[in-house]
Amino acid sequence: MSLLRIENAIRYFGGLMAVGDVSFTVPEGSVFGLIGPNGAGKTTVFNLITGNYRLDSGKIFFRNEDISRMATHRVVERGIARTFQNIRLFSGMTVLENVLAGRHCRMKAGPVAAMLRLPSQRIEERRAVARAMAELLFVGLAGHAGNLAKNLSYGNQRLLEIARALAADPRLIILDEPAGGMNDYETTALVELISKIRDRGITVMLIEHDMSLVMRACERIVVLEHGKKIAAGNPGEIQSDPAVIEAYLGGDDDEF
Ligand SMILES: Nc1ncnc2c1ncn2[C@@H]1O[C@H](COP(=O)(O)OP(=O)(O)O)[C@@H](O)[C@H]1O
Ligand SMILES: [Mg+2]
Repeated sequence: MSLLRIENAIRYFGGLMAVGDVSFTVPEGSVFGLIGPNGAGKTTVFNLITGNYRLDSGKIFFRNEDISRMATHRVVERGIARTFQNIRLFSGMTVLENVLAGRHCRMKAGPVAAMLRLPSQRIEERRAVARAMAELLFVGLAGHAGNLAKNLSYGNQRLLEIARALAADPRLIILDEPAGGMNDYETTALVELISKIRDRGITVMLIEHDMSLVMRACERIVVLEHGKKIAAGNPGEIQSDPAVIEAYLGGDDDEF
């Protein structure tokens, strides 16, 4: 079954067609890669899915529900969590507090209960901390829980964003260049982490320039170039696709 379905998505910025009539589906339980040279429209597709940008036309369905016009917080409630190409953490807050911020969307206590520190709210808070710690353990950052986010290494900040996204209980997690700034050792650990996320039943969608990561981690890949889908298939098919080779080798954009 497809978890996410994008139908004829179009988005312009002024006269520039960032995403031009792109359609694809993401099967439930898969690791799905979205690749292409710089400026191809990959991040824009993510922003369209999460409601950060509006479609000019087309539709996006998540679990057969039309989420095309949904506000970002509703999209999160439906079960889509994300990380950002340019890391967006609360840098002056601790690592644990950052993950708790991701958990917030699943907490019921309103501001009054929080202010009065009612028992129900304290129980919920304690549960949220336990859950946040569990996610930190899962990504390998438990030992950093009390540190300020800004003091983490770049690679660890990326892992913290993943922990924060996982704390929101997603069915689909979308990762925008998760290996950006990571060394080879960290990237290999990330490939393992991605398969552990998938083993939890969470579908993974990622944008990545590191082709060795993409080919190791993804079962299905869609390639964009200048806002258009130029190829779709498994890693073997993508690596031998003439249009893909041309897109990567024809310009001076990227390595393949
Ligand atoms: N908010 C925006 N305003 C104007 N142009 C944008 C905006 N976001 C993206 N673009 C443009 O859309 C194109 C696709 O960008 P993007 O989706 O970020 O590409 P990718 O993630 O594949 O590198 C680029 O030409 C980019 O400059
Ligand atoms: Mg991008």
